[in-house]
Amino acid sequence: MAFIEWNSTLSVDVNQFDEQHKKLISLINELLSAMSKGEGARMINEVLKGLIEYTITHFSAEEEAMKKYQYPGLGLHHIEHKNLTTKVIELQNKLDKGEAVLSMEVFQFLKDWLVNHIMKTDKSYGVFFKSKGIVV
Ligand SMILES: [Fe+2]
Ligand SMILES: [Fe+2]
Repeated sequence: MAFIEWNSTLSVDVNQFDEQHKKLISLINELLSAMSKGEGARMINEVLKGLIEYTITHFSAEEEAMKKYQYPGLGLHHIEHKNLTTKVIELQNKLDKGEAVLSMEVFQFLKDWLVNHIMKTDKSYGVFFKSKGIVV
C-alpha cells in the first residue's frame, strides 16, 4: 500500500484548506508508517489521536469559513463532518478495546474517508467561494 500523496487534483482552491488537507494526509501517512514499522499500540494510538484532533480543528475551520460567507451547503457539509468524526472515533474505540486491529483495511478506510470527502464535498465550497470572488 502506497502512501497518499497530495496533488493538484485534490485542490479545493482555498490555500489554507489545501495546506490543512496536506497535513491530514501526512498524519494518515504517519499512521501507515508506524503500522508498517510494527510500532507498538501506544505509539499508534498517539498518532491516531493526533489525527482525530487535527481533523476536528480542520472541520471547524472549514465550517467557520462556510458560515462567515453564507455558503448554502453548510448544513449538509456539517452533517458529513459529524459522520466522519463519529466513524473515526468509533474506530479509535474499537482499537482501544481490542475489537479491531490497525490493518491495511483501516488505512484504506482512512484514505477513502479523507479523499472522498475532499473530492466530493470540500471542492464544492471552493467552487462557491471562487464564483463569489471570496478569498478565504
Ligand atoms: Fe476538508
Ligand atoms: Fe469538509
